[in-house]
Amino acid sequence: MTVKIFDTPEVQDFLKTVSGFDQSGGDERAKQIMHRLLSDLYKLIDDFDVTPEEYWSAVSLLNALGGQTQFGLLSPGLGFDHYLDMRQDAIDAEARRVGGTPRTIEGPLYVAGAPEAEGFARMDDGRDTDGETLWLTGQVRDVDGNPIAGARVEIWHADSKGGYSFFDPTQSEYNLRRTIVTDAEGRYTARSIVPSGYGVPEGSPTDQVLKLLGRHGERPAHIHYFISAPGHQHLTTQINLAGDPYTFDDFAYATREELVIPANRIEDADEIARRELDGPFSEVTFDIVLTATDDPELQHRHARPRAKEDEQDKASQLAGTAKV
Ligand code: DHB
Ligand code: FE
Repeated sequence: MTVKIFDTPEVQDFLKTVSGFDQSGGDERAKQIMHRLLSDLYKLIDDFDVTPEEYWSAVSLLNALGGQTQFGLLSPGLGFDHYLDMRQDAIDAEARRVGGTPRTIEGPLYVAGAPEAEGFARMDDGRDTDGETLWLTGQVRDVDGNPIAGARVEIWHADSKGGYSFFDPTQSEYNLRRTIVTDAEGRYTARSIVPSGYGVPEGSPTDQVLKLLGRHGERPAHIHYFISAPGHQHLTTQINLAGDPYTFDDFAYATREELVIPANRIEDADEIARRELDGPFSEVTFDIVLTATDDPELQHRHARPRAKEDEQDKASQLAGTAKV
């Protein structure tokens, strides 16, 4: 088929009408963005000769994604989260906020309001006996190497089956989610269990999209962090445990060389006793460097719908139905 109508005055005028250009109400930025988006999609339909069958199956897929609140899951898979990070890195470089620990994506599975502790917290509820004990520790410093006492280190991760509490209703409330405030030397320590890698739910709409692209939906074993301290830029990051088959093949593109950390298995009886454990464990050390900023807005995580952050936000609460 060779029909091409996109460049005709009729279609170009129609796009302006559909985008509300001839209406006085509404939001100017929304109109401009919708006009660009619709123009790109109309052109795509013309260029690829998209059939009605293809168009309506795409609408069905979008309905399925929305119905299972999976846009937040698909977004990292299509690279949007990493792309936003790349843009933020460029903004920071231009403002000379450099030298800190690299950021990487938040992901869709954060839950606000985890219990807080000073210096040390146990994160697991003791029920996941398949998970080896993890001893996770580190120091928060500024770019000159000074320790930052009183920094808030919020950590969350999956269990030994790759599931996150709240989204996985079989886990106890806030299992594997804690906020630890650093001690006088800027240190934090957590006792937890070694997480497993994570995969998008098999057969889900997100999985269907990835399969169409010949891709998998697997993430390596990883641990999420939010770190904040007055006078410093809020940092959203993750560590990926070294040696996982997906460490450098992450469907969410969150891996960064500096954030790949080895887990050291420790079997020494004295070391086990010193931590009051009863068997071998894996130790992970992750030190964090924060850049300085006077801008109060940069000192907090950016706004985004998050589970339990805003009790009015039913959409993020519903992320629980995503069964991840
Ligand atoms: C997804 C899941 C994660 O645990 C994560 O850290 C990032 C992305 C996802 O399902 O898209
Ligand atoms: Fe995750």
